Amino acid sequence: MSKITTDIELAAHALASGNLVAFPTETVYGLGADATNPVAVARIYAVKGRPLNHPLIVHIPSADFLTSWAKDIPKYALQLADSFWPGPMTLILKRTELAKDFITGSQDSVGVRVPSHPVSQELLARFTELGGKGVAAPSANKFGRVSTTSSVAVMEDLAGSMQEGDLILEGADSDIGIESTIIDCTGSTPAILRPGAITSDMIRKVTGLEVSEGDSRVRVSGSMDKHYSPMAKVVLDELAQPGDGLIAMSDVVTPQGVIRLCEPRTVEEYASVLYSSLRLADQLKLTRVVAISPSGDGLALAIRNRLAKASAE
Ligand code: TXA
Ligand code: MG
Repeated sequence: MSKITTDIELAAHALASGNLVAFPTETVYGLGADATNPVAVARIYAVKGRPLNHPLIVHIPSADFLTSWAKDIPKYALQLADSFWPGPMTLILKRTELAKDFITGSQDSVGVRVPSHPVSQELLARFTELGGKGVAAPSANKFGRVSTTSSVAVMEDLAGSMQEGDLILEGADSDIGIESTIIDCTGSTPAILRPGAITSDMIRKVTGLEVSEGDSRVRVSGSMDKHYSPMAKVVLDELAQPGDGLIAMSDVVTPQGVIRLCEPRTVEEYASVLYSSLRLADQLKLTRVVAISPSGDGLALAIRNRLAKASAE
């Protein structure tokens, strides 16, 4: 049995003693373990049902801890860290000795992020005071399914697979709602591996460099075609039929007999409610959800990326 708690001190100790702690971040909930403990990290894979060769992101309290995990850090990566941490951005960098194969999926690089959610900030700070070096955390959902943005969703998805001593840390829901932007910083210029709230324009502005997108130099599980999927079939940009669920901006009217799952007024709101809306569709046992893609670049592009994966056959 696992336990929901608001006690950050208890959660930091749970991590230090090799247990799992699901915790809120500003993007989505993470399922955390001590990133230097191979047994604890192996349990993440077991609880998620995730293939063993998928690398994990290491979460640290501030950029001060970056050099424990990463070396030969290019200047542009430091500029990005300076500008966007704490925040929804993961940097892929050359790994140090500390980042073992069980974290990196045997790649020579490691993913590192400093989340800004106050609960994750406090948890990571306290964990490092206890001697911890970083928290490995994938999104807290079953592999291939929709990420979680609330402690209730984590309970539904993972509580059954967690053990005595594991915890789910409660905190304000994830407000961004989609996973961090992943930027490969192992080359001479930044490459976006997964779009998110930190956009290519923002990266270009800060680094003054060209930013490549859609590169697949390294393995990213989110880049597999089918991912982020609910049980319901997701179709994009079609006319919703009676009995379908509908995810669309508030200016799209709901056809008769269609179940409206959300009516976001902005793209930020769209990202924020996307995963909870897909989960709602499953709770309502809908067989089909029509999603009308938001237009534009930046965050809208990241939403279209997740919708494309949710709707992949
Ligand atoms: O917003 C987020 O990034 C959330 C929160 C919890 O921080 N985490 C998250 O983790 O989305 P996950 O494991 O669901 O997705 C992380 C992605 C995976 O697709 C993984 O393959 C990729 O990051 N990744 C991690 N380390 C990597 C590395 N060294 N090289 C390439 N990709 C890496
Ligand atoms: Mg994930």
